[in-house]
Amino acid sequence: MKPTDWRYPRHIAHRGAGKLAPENTLAAFRHGASFGYRMFEFDVKLSGDGKSVLMHDATLDRTTSGHGRVDALTLGELAALDAGSWHGPAFAGEPIPTLATIARYTQANDFHVNIEIKPVPGAEYRTGAAVALDALVLWRGAAVPPLLSSFSEVALEAARLAAPDLPRALLLDKLPADWLDRLRRLDCVALDANHRELDAKVIADAHAAGFKVLCYTVNDPARASELLAWGLDGLITDAVDLIPPGK
Ligand code: G3P
Ligand code: MG
Repeated sequence: MKPTDWRYPRHIAHRGAGKLAPENTLAAFRHGASFGYRMFEFDVKLSGDGKSVLMHDATLDRTTSGHGRVDALTLGELAALDAGSWHGPAFAGEPIPTLATIARYTQANDFHVNIEIKPVPGAEYRTGAAVALDALVLWRGAAVPPLLSSFSEVALEAARLAAPDLPRALLLDKLPADWLDRLRRLDCVALDANHRELDAKVIADAHAAGFKVLCYTVNDPARASELLAWGLDGLITDAVDLIPPGK
C-alpha cells in the first residue's frame, strides 16, 4: 500500500463502541455506527478448532458466560455463550461474532475495519497466518482492505507471509529506540502507538519515513484534538459519544 492509498477515516471506534455496549460484539458495532463512526477496531483470536472469533482476553471469564481459555472451546461451543449479559440486561444473549459475521456486516454498510490480531499465548504465528488468510478471503474485492495490527511481531510476520498485500500496523505500548526499523522489517504501513508515546515530533518523524500514525485509546476530546492537529491519521477511542467522528 502506498501512502496515497490510505483511505481510512481518522476516527476509529475501539472494540466496536468502546464501553457503551459489550465490546467486540455486533451490538457494539451498531452502537458505534449510531454515533456516526465508520471504522471499527476489534480483537481477533482463534477458537480451539482454528476459527477466527472476536475476543479481547485470552480467557472467557470477563466478557462471556464461559470460563477458561478461548482456545479450549470449539466455535460451536463458543456460539452457545452469552457475551452480552456481563455488560447489562439490554444485551443479554449477545453472541460472540466470528470474523465472517463482522466482514459481512461491515462491508454491507461500507464500514472500514482494523483487525487487531490478538493471539492467545503460544499461538502467535498460527493466529497471525490464519487471521490474515481469513481476512484476505472475507474482504476479497472490497474497495478498501482491512488494516491488520498486532502487538505481536511474530503474528505480524506470519500475516505478512500469508497475505503480503494486506496493510499492517505495529502496535507499540512503549516506543523502543528502533521503532522505525521494526516498522520497516515488518513492511508496515503504520505505527499504532499508545497515545501517551506520541507528540508532534514522533508523528512528523513517522510521516517523514513514509508511515501513517494511529493511536489508542484516546477518550479525552481535548487530547484527541491535540493529536489530530499534529497530523495523526487514526484515533482509536472508546468515547464514541464524546468525540464526533466528523466526515
Ligand atoms: O488496537 C488498539 C488497542 O485495541 C490495543 O489495546 O488491549 O484494547 O486491544 P487493547
Ligand atoms: Mg484491541
